[in-house]
Amino acid sequence: MTTDTGARPVGIALVGAGVISTQYLTVLSSFPDVRVLAVADLDIERARAQARAFDVPAAGDVASALAIPEVEIVVNLTIPAAHAEVATAALQAGKHVYGEKPLALAPSDGARILAEARARGLRVGSAPDTFLGAGLQSAARAVRAGLIGEPVSATAILQGPGPESWHPSPEFLFQYGGGPLFDMGPYYLTALVALFGPAVRVTATARRARTHRVIGSGPKAGTSFAVEVPTHVHALLDFASGPSTSATFSFDSAKPRRVLEITGTEGTLSLPDPNTFDGPLRIQGFGGGGASQAGGSGGTWRDLPVSGTTAGRGIGVLDMARAVRGGGAHRASGELAQHVLELMASVTASAERHEVVALESGVPPLETLPEDWAPEAATV
Ligand SMILES: NC(=O)c1ccc[n+]([C@@H]2O[C@H](COP(=O)([O-])OP(=O)(O)OC[C@H]3O[C@@H](n4cnc5c(N)ncnc54)[C@H](O)[C@@H]3O)[C@@H](O)[C@H]2O)c1
Repeated sequence: MTTDTGARPVGIALVGAGVISTQYLTVLSSFPDVRVLAVADLDIERARAQARAFDVPAAGDVASALAIPEVEIVVNLTIPAAHAEVATAALQAGKHVYGEKPLALAPSDGARILAEARARGLRVGSAPDTFLGAGLQSAARAVRAGLIGEPVSATAILQGPGPESWHPSPEFLFQYGGGPLFDMGPYYLTALVALFGPAVRVTATARRARTHRVIGSGPKAGTSFAVEVPTHVHALLDFASGPSTSATFSFDSAKPRRVLEITGTEGTLSLPDPNTFDGPLRIQGFGGGGASQAGGSGGTWRDLPVSGTTAGRGIGVLDMARAVRGGGAHRASGELAQHVLELMASVTASAERHEVVALESGVPPLETLPEDWAPEAATV
């Protein structure tokens, strides 16, 4: 016999049934506090197939999903060029919206989404939510506990050959709103903003190695398409709290490399790949004196314990759903995504104009998740 606790999971409609929807459907189906009620797509057959695969009761076009009264949050997994349009439609239908990155193509569109939500008393959330995973949360706790002393600088490197070899429809990843900066930058930049607070200034340079690329998998394999954005970006970022960062985002390199390191007055922290939810998290102190706090022994990394959730993409949706029921701020917020969007737009503008660009938006202070935060628990 089951007991009716009065609990009511938060109803979700997922819009965009493409590559990443499988991960969201898998993860969200495992959380008792939310329930996916509909899958929608421009391609209705694709929406139906995903709904069937994950036992979702409804599938169809966007309007039909937005018309379901029990849907409270729309999870927007469309391509970047459609993010603002779908988010706005969801808000105008009275739904909270949580979207994949980037929040929108331009900061002006992001600002309009946030204003629409504010006017209606609705929430906006955005990927990435990897910064809520065990690896990056443990890093945040280590920095806040002073393990590397005062943060001074950071190094972020995402380089590799680009996603056209494995993504069956990679064109959007090389159009405005894509490229290594807008597609992969949000993981690194969100992690840095979550740790350091807002950036205030950027300078950047950018290049594009090839004007066309060739799709490597799926039904369109062998098709050439145009590269519309820079595919190699170097940026220097200054944060209001002090640290400076050098960042490289490139789809032009034969050599894959992912680095995120934070250096403080007492040592350096090597963070996990910020496109993942787990560790490893490592620390290195200065050799000899000054290493005691960091516990390093000059030249070697030491593993730090990692604790928290590794559930995967969707934990930001769950944090927002719990806030819808229980009140308080959700962490993967529209304001955070808007700042990261402004940061990326400023990097682009700096590279185009050969100028230092100042940023205007701030971010609310971010609370780390409680260490025992349990996505699999029923709490609403
Ligand atoms: N593929 C990945 O590994 C990955 C990882 C993390 C984040 N993302 C992000 O997720 C989003 C989607 O990526 P994807 O790889 O799943 O793309 P995809 O092209 O595989 O799927 C996008 C889907 O959105 C649908 N769509 C487009 N415009 C629409 C609209 N106006 N209304 C309804 N449906 C619409 C398309 O028909 C398609 O089915 C992007 O923002 C991407 O940056 C993707």
